[in-house]
This record gives sequence, structure tokens and C-alpha cells, in this order.
Amino acid sequence: MSNIQFSTDDQKVLESIMQHRRDVRGNRFIDQDVADEAIEQLLLAALHAPSVGFSQPWEFVLVRDSETKAQIAASFNEENDKAIAQFQDAKQKEYVRLKLEGIREAPVNIAVFYKPSLGPVLGQTSMEEVGRYSVVCAVQNMWLMARAMNIGMGWVSILDPQKVKTILGAPERNELIAYLCVGYVDEFLPRPELEILQWEKRKALQSVVYTEAYDK
Ligand SMILES: Cc1cc2nc3c(=O)[nH]c(=O)nc-3n(C[C@H](O)[C@H](O)[C@H](O)COP(=O)(O)O)c2cc1C
Repeated sequence: MSNIQFSTDDQKVLESIMQHRRDVRGNRFIDQDVADEAIEQLLLAALHAPSVGFSQPWEFVLVRDSETKAQIAASFNEENDKAIAQFQDAKQKEYVRLKLEGIREAPVNIAVFYKPSLGPVLGQTSMEEVGRYSVVCAVQNMWLMARAMNIGMGWVSILDPQKVKTILGAPERNELIAYLCVGYVDEFLPRPELEILQWEKRKALQSVVYTEAYDK
């Protein structure tokens, strides 16, 4: 069982899940609850992510309460107003039309925290940031598992992390890595919404790959 070999069909399923995973925002979530068992399945997927030195430096806060969501959404609104000011002219007009979160529309929000280790961690002694990268691996596992369960997930990063920590009563040394909105959707878009809306294009492979070194 441990040396399980996957088939070409399995690879195609994984590829399909990866290609059809979408960031889901409030314009897509429907009014349908997500059962605790399904949320647990997502969290178990997170727990199988790789982590530096097997440190598993993640903690999760599940939020269903509408008052808590309203407080988080207020932080989004404040931060988004600051974001709008960073774009100019036509780009700013485009930006204000984007829906960039689904905090209140999603039945479940999941805040994902990095809990730094108190002592040295195997593998994390030169690059301190790899602890945070481990938490991002856990988020990606959840995102793919959610898509495999036909559940939408959106990552909201336009937030004041300190305010989110205060709202959720997080320990001071924990760091907010991701704020996720989870729920069923009316549809999964075929391509990233930001691509459909012509905000960005997907990069071609040859534009990001160098052979042997950058300057060759
Ligand atoms: C670290 C990270 C932060 C993100 N933050 C936001 C966000 O604050 N608001 C938002 O609408 N989308 C956010 N996204 C989603 C991206 O916009 C999305 O992944 C990208 O447009 C590609 O679309 P897709 O995920 O549907 O393929 C974030 C994604 C990542 C990986």
C-alpha cells in the first residue's frame, strides 16, 4: 500500500483538479452550508502537506459567526480602500469593479496561522521563511481537496493581519498566512477570473524557465 503506483488516469484526474481549481469570490458562493465533516476533510488534507523538518507549524481558526465575519470584512474594506489608491486612472477604474473577497457570502471562513517554533527546526536554520512556506503548502492541499469535493475556496489577503489576529484572539507570536472563504458555488469559472476580465494573462512556460542559469 505504501508503494502505491498511480495510473495515467490518476494523473489526469490530478491534472484536471489543478487546472480547474479556482479562486472563488463572493460573486460565486451560493447559500448552502458546508457540513463539518467536509471541513474536516479539508483540514485533514492540510495536515498531509509537507513541512520543513516535519514541524507542521500550522493552526486553523474556523469562523461561521456572522458578527466575526463582519469585523473581518470591515478590515478588508479599509485595506481595499488603500489598495484602490495605489492604482491609477483606467487600472483604478478596473480595480474598483473587481470582487476580491467572499467573507460574508461564504458559509465558512478559515484563518490559517503560522505558529513559529520556539527552538531550532531541522531545515529552517538558514532560511527562516520556510516555516511560512510550509503553511502555504497546507493551504494549497486544502484548495485542491476543496476543488475535488466541488467546494469553492477563495484566498483573501487584502486584510490587516494584526486586526485579524485581534478579532480572532490569536496568540501574539502566531502569524496570519491565509484567510480562506469556503462554500459551494454556482459555477467554477473555466479560467482565472482575473484572466477573463483581462487583468492578467497566464505566463507561457518558456517565459519563466531558464536552462542551467539565468544568463545562458
Ligand atoms: C497568496 C495569495 C493571495 C491572494 N489574495 C487574494 C485576494 O486578496 N483577493 C482575491 O480576490 N484573490 C486573491 N488571490 C487569488 C488570486 O487572485 C488567484 O489565485 C489568481 O487570480 C488566479 O486565479 P485562480 O486561482 O482562479 O486560478 C490570492 C491568491 C494567492 C495565492
